[in-house]
Amino acid sequence: MFHLLSFTLTCSVIFVPALGILLILQIASSTKLVCHMTNWAQYRPGAAKFTPDNIDPFLCTHIVYAQASINSLNQISTVERNDEQQYGRLNGLKRVNPVLKTLLSVGGTVNGLNPFTAVVAKAEGRATFIKSAISFLRTHNFDGLNLAWNHPGHNGSPEDDKQSFTLLVTELFEAFRDEARENRRTPLLLSASVGSLIPTIDKAYEVDKIVSALDFINVMNFDFHGSWEAATGHHSPLYASSEDSGTSIHHNINSSLSHWLSLGAPAEKLLLGFSTYGRTFRLSGGANGLGAPANGPTEAGAFTRTEGFWSYYEICNYINSATVGWISEQEVPYATYASSWVGYDDKRSFSSKVQWLTAHSLGGAHVWTLDMDDFGGSFCSDGAFPLVNHLRTSLGFGPKPTTAPAAPRVREAASTFCVGRPNGLYVNTADRNTFFQCSNGYTYLFHCQLGLVYSDICKCCDWP
Ligand SMILES: *[C@@H]1O[C@H](CO)[C@@H](O)[C@H](O)[C@H]1NC(C)=O
Repeated sequence: MFHLLSFTLTCSVIFVPALGILLILQIASSTKLVCHMTNWAQYRPGAAKFTPDNIDPFLCTHIVYAQASINSLNQISTVERNDEQQYGRLNGLKRVNPVLKTLLSVGGTVNGLNPFTAVVAKAEGRATFIKSAISFLRTHNFDGLNLAWNHPGHNGSPEDDKQSFTLLVTELFEAFRDEARENRRTPLLLSASVGSLIPTIDKAYEVDKIVSALDFINVMNFDFHGSWEAATGHHSPLYASSEDSGTSIHHNINSSLSHWLSLGAPAEKLLLGFSTYGRTFRLSGGANGLGAPANGPTEAGAFTRTEGFWSYYEICNYINSATVGWISEQEVPYATYASSWVGYDDKRSFSSKVQWLTAHSLGGAHVWTLDMDDFGGSFCSDGAFPLVNHLRTSLGFGPKPTTAPAAPRVREAASTFCVGRPNGLYVNTADRNTFFQCSNGYTYLFHCQLGLVYSDICKCCDWP
């Protein structure tokens, strides 16, 4: 399998004189940009209503649909009345971008209880769940499953759920592999959204035993601070601040990811979390900086309508009149106006976090969520998906393929290039640094890395 995004694809051609043969190695970087969407974002009003139709199919490498649940028979199940229709719309994006991967996330609570507890209690429960998940994912054309159990051994679930989680993960991995072999298909992907506080990590995961079964790990490095505390704090800071004391010195991304790494999690499987939301406070004194006295959240956002957080597009509106500050110790912004305060992320803090993940050779980024970015571009005057597009560029992804009619570098004739041609990759004789991908009659233009040309022999970018 080859990758189409230009940056992921490099062919190294090694000439071995003694044998007189050419060995062609494809080295594909595995940088991931995993984007979560939620099935409750469809209920937001007006321009904030979000469905899979709002997704740019070339923005992320993976989309995670949050989320599905588990019924009383231990089978994976839908939550919203129109989930199956939305699955169809989401997975239809793969007709436009055939290398996009989609995963279904399962988690949440049922009547206040964690449904995983019943699943893992017995071997039969796990077997039932796993069987139902495989058939459900294949039926709806997903490429994998994301486990969003927060967290084993927490929220009323038994202490030994740590071992049960290991069993669930390893049995899923084996069942996915067996199913793929049997049906000659690509194995379903398996990922997990995991905790970020050090005591949570230590209590919930047998890190050395789960990592080999997971394709990637979404570290939920959010909500380190929030309106449940009596002073303002940023919910997803890169480092500790001088306001932190006691265990809160570890309430930051650097401490959390360093802990995951120290427990032996392979860097290339860890994804650092990027938030498209901020956490709010109501100031209770005269101070309005970091660590200012606060008592609870400020008003709910007009679109997200839930106290305690605002989406990025709601924050865009707010900072028109608010004062914006930068917490330099933590490399994140905040904004304040009258008695309200919000710690959030912007392009600058995204860049700082990308530097961290690059310096530590992590596997990439995951975003919570697509639907809280300014996905339609109607709030922030900065185009569609300003944060996630910035993240994509910062991670080093090349330009997105453009449909031919809109691509400045493609001549008029190219827009019809794929009409009547089978799906696949084709040489662009007008510019050997680019190539066409035909997908159901649509023409997409891809760029090779600078200096490389597209070769029809390896169907990849190669040295000229
Ligand atoms: C980041 O975390 C590591 C490991 O805990 C620590 O040694 C280092 O000092 C931290 N860096 C900063 C800038 O806080």
